[in-house]
Amino acid sequence: MAESGEAAVEALGAFALKYVRAGQVLGLGTGRAATAFIRALGASGMKVRGVPTSNVSEALARELGIEIAGLGDVKRIDITFDGADEVDPRLNLIKGYGGALIREKVVACASRRQVILVGAEKLVRRLGARGRVPVEVVPFAAPFCARQMRSLGLKPAIRTSADGSEFRSDNGNLIIDCVVRPGFGPARMDRALLAIPGVVGTGIFAGIADTVVVVEPDGRMRVLRRRRR
Ligand code: A5P
Repeated sequence: MAESGEAAVEALGAFALKYVRAGQVLGLGTGRAATAFIRALGASGMKVRGVPTSNVSEALARELGIEIAGLGDVKRIDITFDGADEVDPRLNLIKGYGGALIREKVVACASRRQVILVGAEKLVRRLGARGRVPVEVVPFAAPFCARQMRSLGLKPAIRTSADGSEFRSDNGNLIIDCVVRPGFGPARMDRALLAIPGVVGTGIFAGIADTVVVVEPDGRMRVLRRRRR
């Protein structure tokens, strides 16, 4: 299924405003859907503070007059709004195609709620059905990490930018994209990757999102909620 168009993504951003109250501290995600949310928030004029998950989202929020806070400035984050690259039926996610996975996960885990905004094309039966899992690694360790990933059958590929140079995250690290190994559930895959020295974190968000707003091809919004175990 093709990526949702601009109008659908803008509608997602505007819809998400219904979860926001003045005075809240919000995590500001990264990517098209998160950008649409930040724009809608800026246009609403609501007084909130935002904790950004990337330099790009921070610059946009500042430009729109949204007050920026760091993790040291706030006791807790009320809700984080972000996009995702894949969403499975349990609302486990793959994130990080834009390279912001580490800050996104830190901010999501520091939040009471994480609301994910996606087009219906991102819904999958199993993570890995549409693409790869981004893994952020310390540059020094990258050759070793890649060897370890290869031995796990994860077909690692170091991410490059459009000009062919190695992609660097906002943290100055490299991203290695891996396939999801059949038989590995999200939590097991995450644990196997995190056990490799030099891995900073993965784009598998298992059990973090509680609400996913899906825009259908006809423009209708569907809200999915994770069942508490
Ligand atoms: C940023 O690194 C990513 O995790 C994005 O949140 C994710 O890729 C979804 O982005 P889009 O909303 O642009 O599809």
